[in-house]
Formats: sequence, C-alpha cells, structure tokens
Amino acid sequence: MTSTIDQDHLIGTKITTDLWRNAVVYQIYPRSFADSNGDGIGDLPGITSRVPYLRWLGVNAVWLSPFYPSALADGGYDVDDHRNVDPQLGNLDDFDAMVAALHAADIKVIVDIVPNHTSNRHAWFVQALAAGRGASERDRYLFRDGRGRAGELPPNDWESIFGGSAWASSGDGQWYFHCFAAEQPDLNWENEEVREDFRRTIRFWADRGVDGFRIDVAHGLRKDLSEPYPPWGEIADLMRPDGSHPLWDRDDVHEIYADWRRIFDSYDPPRYAVAEAIVHPTRRARYASADSLGQAFNFAMQDADWRAEDYRQVIDTGLADMINSGATTSWLLGCHDTPRVATRYGLPLEDDCSAQQVARAWLLSDGAEPYLDRSLGERRSRAAIMILLALPGSTYIYQGDELGLHEVADLAPEVLEDPMASRSTTEKGRDGCRVPLPWTAQGPSYGFGAAIGHLPQPDWFGAYAVSVQEADADSTLTLYRQALALRDHLFAGSGLSWVESEPWVLHFARPGGIRCVTNFGTESVSLPAGQVLLSSAHLDHGRLPTDTTVWLRVP
Ligand code: NOJ
Repeated sequence: MTSTIDQDHLIGTKITTDLWRNAVVYQIYPRSFADSNGDGIGDLPGITSRVPYLRWLGVNAVWLSPFYPSALADGGYDVDDHRNVDPQLGNLDDFDAMVAALHAADIKVIVDIVPNHTSNRHAWFVQALAAGRGASERDRYLFRDGRGRAGELPPNDWESIFGGSAWASSGDGQWYFHCFAAEQPDLNWENEEVREDFRRTIRFWADRGVDGFRIDVAHGLRKDLSEPYPPWGEIADLMRPDGSHPLWDRDDVHEIYADWRRIFDSYDPPRYAVAEAIVHPTRRARYASADSLGQAFNFAMQDADWRAEDYRQVIDTGLADMINSGATTSWLLGCHDTPRVATRYGLPLEDDCSAQQVARAWLLSDGAEPYLDRSLGERRSRAAIMILLALPGSTYIYQGDELGLHEVADLAPEVLEDPMASRSTTEKGRDGCRVPLPWTAQGPSYGFGAAIGHLPQPDWFGAYAVSVQEADADSTLTLYRQALALRDHLFAGSGLSWVESEPWVLHFARPGGIRCVTNFGTESVSLPAGQVLLSSAHLDHGRLPTDTTVWLRVP
C-alpha cells in the first residue's frame, strides 16, 4: 500500500467538525422537481410533498437552486429580489413549511446566494437605468462610458461566458458589464450598499432556518475594470494560478467571505457555505478555508473521463489540495450546468476531447451522433457514484442522477430556455439536464404534475420513473439508496490508502478494513478475500466485471 492520506488531524475548527464534513447533499432544481399546482413549473409545495422520498433515499441535506422572483433569463440565476419567492413557485409561508418538513425529516437546507449579479428587473437596476449617467444609483453596477464619438461602441472587446459581448448599452453612451446574459448586470462589490444588502440577505435566510448557502460565481465578485483594458485575447484563458486575472479569482474576493464568515459563525450552529469557484486547482483550497467559505466544489470529477488514471489523479489532487484548508472535498458527478453523467459515460471516449466535450458536441447534433450506449453509461455512472460515496468528504447528487437519467438531446429549438443556446453558436445549452423529473411510469408528465412540464419530457422518461425503480432490486435508484444507507456507518474517519493493482483497476482502502475497488478494464478481475457489502453490478462468479465498483470488508 502507498500514499496514505489522512485528514483526521485537520479536524479542529467549527466548520469541519460538523456533519457537513461528510454530508450527502441532493441538488434540487426547483422548477423541474415536482409541480404541486399543475402549471407545468415545479414549486416549493411540490418539494414539500416529496420530502418522504428524500428521507427514504437517505440524503443529509438538499441544496435548492434559485427559487427567487425571476424572469428566467438564466434559469432563475437572474434574481429580481433575493429575499422573496417567485410567485410561480409559492411564497415565504410555503418556504417555511418546506424547511419545517425537511428539518422534521432530519434533512438540512442549503439555498443559493447569487451575489455576482442581479436581474435587469431588480429594483436597483431599474433605478440605475432611470437615474442616468453619473447618478449614484449606477454605482451599484459596473457602468462605463462607451467608445466612439457618442459612446456607441462597448468599452472593450471582452466576452460574456454565454457568448457575445460582455457589455450592453444603456442607450445614453454608457454600457453596463455582464459576465453572463445581458439580463444579468454585474454588481459593483466596492459599493458599500451592495455589501450591506447581501449581509441582510444571508441573515434573512439564516433567520428563517436555512442551514447553509451555495455561493454562485464565488470567484467573480471582485473585478479590476481600470484602464487600459487588456485585449480579450490576453485574458480569454480564465484560470490563472496567481490571482492576476482582471475578472476572476482575485485575492481581494476573500475579504467578502471573511466578512460573511463572521455572520455564518454568529449562528448556532454556524451556517455552512460552499463555493462555486471555477479556479485554477491550486487556488480552490483558499475558498474552502475556515476563514473563507469553508467548502468548495471540486468540479474535477465532473470533468474526468472514465479512466482509472483520471480518477486516481482527481482523487489525489482533491484530497491533497484540501490539506491546507482544513476542509474536506466536495465531490460531484453532475449539476444543472453539465450534460448528465450517464450520457457522458455512454458516449465513446476520444483521445483529444473530454467526455464533457464529446457530450456537448453530441447535444449539438440533437443526439444523432456519436452513438449513445445508454446502458453502458448507466453502468459506469453507477460504478462512479460508489467511488464518490466511498471517498472522504461530502458528495453532491444532482436530481435525477439517482435514476440514471440521460440528457435529453432532442429538445426543439423553440422550447430551449437557456441563454447559452441563443447567445452561443457552439453550444446547445443546459436544458437537457433540466427536464422535469419522472415520478411515475404513466401520466401527463410522468407524475411531475398535472400538466406538461416547462421542458417536454421524452417518451423514454417513464421507464426511468421513481415508481418503476423503487420496486426493482437492481435499479440505479435502489443502488443509490443502499449505498447511502451503508455509507454512514462504513466510512469512518478520513484516511485513504491506495492499494496498488493493475493500471485499469482503482483500489483504495478506508479505515476499518473497508475497500472500494473499481474495474475500468475490459475483462473481469479478481477481488481480495472479504465480505462483499455492495456492488454496482452483479459479480461474475466472484470476480469484478468491467465497469463495476464493489465495496468490501476485508479481514
Ligand atoms: C453558475 C450557475 O450554476 C449557472 O447555472 C449560472 O448560469 C451562472 N452561475 C450565472 O449565475
């Protein structure tokens, strides 16, 4: 055995001793989870009605993507009012009822904080446009004079993440900056009113009983918009190891989180936070440190291809780069921004493209090519989740991945909601993983609600429904449930040791004689003697078949 990594000695701060250190968090995309009133849009009472399912599944917490008032220019990440509920999803009483039901089921609640931008319908932005050039109302955002005789050209050539210019005209010679859609003007985090408003927002939800926060675009709040502007060609590579990018991952962003940390820690128990920080891997730990947000998503597994060496490298880096932060790693295989894991792993591997890139290209062809092997993708994604759940750290599960759902590739252009689809010429967008969940095999929206959902479900969705899978001992849903039930008492502590094996086998030991073995190869392999606790597919006469993970207890 080699390379033992043990993070137990790091336990010591409030944020790392609590349940969050190893929690399993289920991500709910509210508009696509459960629709209680038949308007085609999932809502908060719908979530409340499904609390028994979440408890049965065995998750420790849920993270809700935004449910705030929004015109849905970016799936709810264009927020009109950070301290309210979109009327289509319910109201604050519904929110309180949902939190009470989740807490009664021993499930914690995380909400999304979206501090980089508001929507263009937010009262502040409406005021900023009306107030005109030079008004203090404009200082809450990033307005700059345009180039050209009458300011008819944007201040520079910088591009938005969703494609096209990062500037939109206010019609009076000025332009406002938007990293994402034009309907998402970026806030100016040097403005004290902005800072105070988000302190208020955090307290507002914490006072309502929320246990934690997922911080959207955590790496983007501080910006250097001073002139001369570097040309886009010099800064288009967004991840730098030294904090020198004018837009992303600047060192002074952590002042904001040190401020928020005081608010989080003023509650008993302290409120939890996790950063969505898409940064150079060497910079992730800073966001996860005890004086910053406390945890940070590790997106590397979501980007990894189905290869033993890729997984090992991601695990080594994830565990090692957390050592200085004192946190654990937050693993995930998917979220509302990424083609579904079962699809990524069911498409052919290509040497010069990642599984994600292959899946995005496949989406552009409406799923026509290359050929998607659905059962292969499901088999591999089952093996993958067992790896994640066996690791030290917390694991995030995106709604529907527990059903082995695939991306919906053939959504017609007229139903697409994601601004990426309309702004970009090279992406179909993220709607394919946001299609409403199938709860039953039949019915107008497979049990999602009484009406057709806001994104149409394909015919094959019924076969993946919860009602079908909960009764099937071999289903993906049953595997998730069994794994979650076992996980709590199998994986104590945070030690992990690699067991050297064939290059196509990933094999690690956890304290208490527990082993996790995955066969990425094409032939079955032998297993160490021991008691099989769970397997992602049936064993082959005691041997581990291809694309399968097993948990074992060895003597
Ligand atoms: C990250 C969110 O996950 C994504 O869905 C959103 O489009 C951007 N942040 C902008 O808020």
